[in-house]
Amino acid sequence: MGDLTAVVRDAAEVATATGDLRGDDPAGVVEDAAVAVVDGGIAAVGPTEEVTREYPPENATHAVEARGRAVIPGYVDSHTHACFAGDRSDEFEAKLQGTTYGELLAAGGGIHRTVRATRAASDGELLDNLLDQLDVMVAHGTTTVEVKSGYGLDTETELRMLDVIDRADDRHPVDVVPTFMGAHAVPRDYDGDGDAVDADDYVDRVASEQLPAVADQGIAEFCDVFCDEGAFTVEQSRRVLEAGREHGLTPKVHAEELAHRGGTKLAAEVGAASADHLLHATDEDVQALIDTDVTPVLLPGTAFGLGADYADGRAMVDAGAPVAVATDFNPNCHSQSMAFASALACVEMGLTPAEALVAGTRNGARALDREALGTIREGASADLVVLDAPSHVHVPYSYGINRVATVLKAGRPVVGPEWTGEPGDSPRDEPDDESEGENDE
Ligand code: NIG
Ligand code: FE
Repeated sequence: MGDLTAVVRDAAEVATATGDLRGDDPAGVVEDAAVAVVDGGIAAVGPTEEVTREYPPENATHAVEARGRAVIPGYVDSHTHACFAGDRSDEFEAKLQGTTYGELLAAGGGIHRTVRATRAASDGELLDNLLDQLDVMVAHGTTTVEVKSGYGLDTETELRMLDVIDRADDRHPVDVVPTFMGAHAVPRDYDGDGDAVDADDYVDRVASEQLPAVADQGIAEFCDVFCDEGAFTVEQSRRVLEAGREHGLTPKVHAEELAHRGGTKLAAEVGAASADHLLHATDEDVQALIDTDVTPVLLPGTAFGLGADYADGRAMVDAGAPVAVATDFNPNCHSQSMAFASALACVEMGLTPAEALVAGTRNGARALDREALGTIREGASADLVVLDAPSHVHVPYSYGINRVATVLKAGRPVVGPEWTGEPGDSPRDEPDDESEGENDE
């Protein structure tokens, strides 16, 4: 046997997230259970007596006593824009006064404002900001997160963002999955003749300049596009995603967020890993996703912040779609909490707490082509969250409250009393080279 990294014992329940989404126990609950971790991977999960007989906690590097508590998989937050600079809290106030997201964007606010702040920020500032976000995420139970570029909208800044995302992944116990999103908005830039860049010009730039450079850099895994009113048409989006595919990037689509534009069917046609948002998706759209294995990613925090109608998560689950739920954390949707997204998924979209758990873990991993994550089963990475509550139901039930007591990433405690760092420190790894701060102004 390898190194017995950890044993979590005597949990009131281990919600494995391995159950059938259409069966009576999607959460896959095992009561009075333990999890043994060998070399960072799950070696056994089952009744405490059985597991601890084979894997004695006294031999483990980390023994976690979880009496009266529930254990769930670490959350896989499959959609965020967590790498950015600047503050848009005043836009939150403006939206409360009735200004719409589209109006803010059209006036040069919204994404454009974050683009200005991000272009002006140094790599060091962007990295510090992102590491701070990852600290908040892990404290709320997220162990894997997708982070998109898309606040550069020029080759140089898009590459800088992806590099920062990659460095954050190296530095932080949370796994970070990088997505290129050069087609996040049409930049308010001018071409060599002093004419404003239009959407078609910009799509040309994304396809012929940005994507080859991104492929050359070799960091991004997915290519996402904002296919919506005020952003890119289906044909423009298709061009970006096909060019991305040619450069080895798997497509993802922001679809039907602000209006119905056909992004869901596009996702199905290009074989995207996911179609995200879906506030205005039709039954036919959902069927197209199911037929082609595209994961629908629902982002209830965004509907909450926009004061918009929620995507019909209940109907999607009933139709057999492997619905994922994520935060969409960005300056317009300022919550890193998968628990808050889960509460909204239950209360506003009609998911059960067990379905919300699977949506935030196993199906989030599916949206990121990482099927080895998001469940508690033999062979999976030991990304585990111990709650200070007796069941997974308490996550959405305790809306607004963080019930995370301990987080293990690959069996190593990164949050909670078992973590051996200094209180108040971040669990980040120290930089392992002298390149830290290079390019800083
Ligand atoms: O997913 N819709 C496009 N992108 C983000 C918002 C980004 C922003 O407003 O900064 C979203 O909601
Ligand atoms: Fe988004």
